[in-house]
Amino acid sequence: MSLKSTAKKVLPVGVFERAKKIANGSLSLYSMALAQAHRYNKAYAKYDSRGVQQITARMVFFTHQIEKGLSHTNFRYGFGHKPLQYLNHAMERYRQVNPEYMQSIMYQSALAALHEYRQRHEGHEAEFEYAKNLFPSSIWEEVVQFSLHEGGSITVTSSSKEDNGTLPFSELSEHRHSIREYNDEPVTLDELMPTIELAMRTPSVCNRQPSRVRVVLNSDTIEQALRIQGGFGGYPIPPALILITADNRSFMTPQEHNEGFTDGGLFGMSLLLALEEAQLAACPLNTMFRSKAEKATRKLLDIPECENLVMYIAVGHFPESVKTCRSERLLAKDITTVID
Ligand SMILES: Cc1cc2nc3c(=O)[nH]c(=O)nc-3n(C[C@H](O)[C@H](O)[C@H](O)COP(=O)(O)O)c2cc1C
Repeated sequence: MSLKSTAKKVLPVGVFERAKKIANGSLSLYSMALAQAHRYNKAYAKYDSRGVQQITARMVFFTHQIEKGLSHTNFRYGFGHKPLQYLNHAMERYRQVNPEYMQSIMYQSALAALHEYRQRHEGHEAEFEYAKNLFPSSIWEEVVQFSLHEGGSITVTSSSKEDNGTLPFSELSEHRHSIREYNDEPVTLDELMPTIELAMRTPSVCNRQPSRVRVVLNSDTIEQALRIQGGFGGYPIPPALILITADNRSFMTPQEHNEGFTDGGLFGMSLLLALEEAQLAACPLNTMFRSKAEKATRKLLDIPECENLVMYIAVGHFPESVKTCRSERLLAKDITTVID
């Protein structure tokens, strides 16, 4: 073979460089996304999942649906046939996978919600009939004998919030609850700006501050946005809606592609506490949309493709008294693993 023909087969250095760049850039981004999708698909809590974690997640989710129904000011007797069905299914499976189920905080929490469901239906036997027949009679006995708390909802009053500006962090955090119904007073931008300013102290990766905030005060737009969102059904339209997004132009490498959700999530928590301190009632709302709802939201609120939707926060003033979900927590020791 002549020297000339060998030289022809060697690729110019620029081609290698470009291939390496593509491999480290777009290709690795797509392969990371695929690997992530694969891991997620294997783990997430499907209807027929058999793992205790997944069954617990479903039990907590449907308990929460019942707690939401119990928290509505306009209480609807006999509400929640579908969530009750799913809750029954999850509790049944939970009893199968955890023989110690009565010791579980989340199982107790489900019982507490059912306990209140039953209590609130006293004198409305016809509307209670569905739930009564759905669950095994042993459940209704357990509910009476053993309920962690009085029920699945708690009451929050505006007067209990008057000292929020001077409370130590532990108390402010302990007493913050998601509030989904507000009084009629409008929320102004002047009230919100100091809370957003405070949330600017949130740490972010290399201080790149990808979080972006949209404030919506127009009730028609809020109504449309929440109709698309779908997780605020049955509650009156809140006076203000905040959307937190993360601008992907702040990031530099494929492996940072989820960082906007982390930084935006941290920002959201800071903002929730800042709102609580300012005596504004709030509820974070998810923006985990399928593509049609995401497109409609982007169009409605003019959100460019370079931003990821992180979460909404509904905001209003505390009513004199309002019910909300108990949302019982696991213990720190239940979620902590020490690695030697
Ligand atoms: C990211 C995120 C999304 C949420 N989405 C909704 C929602 O769509 N609808 C709703 O009513 N509550 C929503 N919540 C509120 C949770 O139900 C609530 O935070 C949880 O039950 C804990 O209760 P607490 O906030 O009162 O402590 C969301 C919370 C977070 C953090």
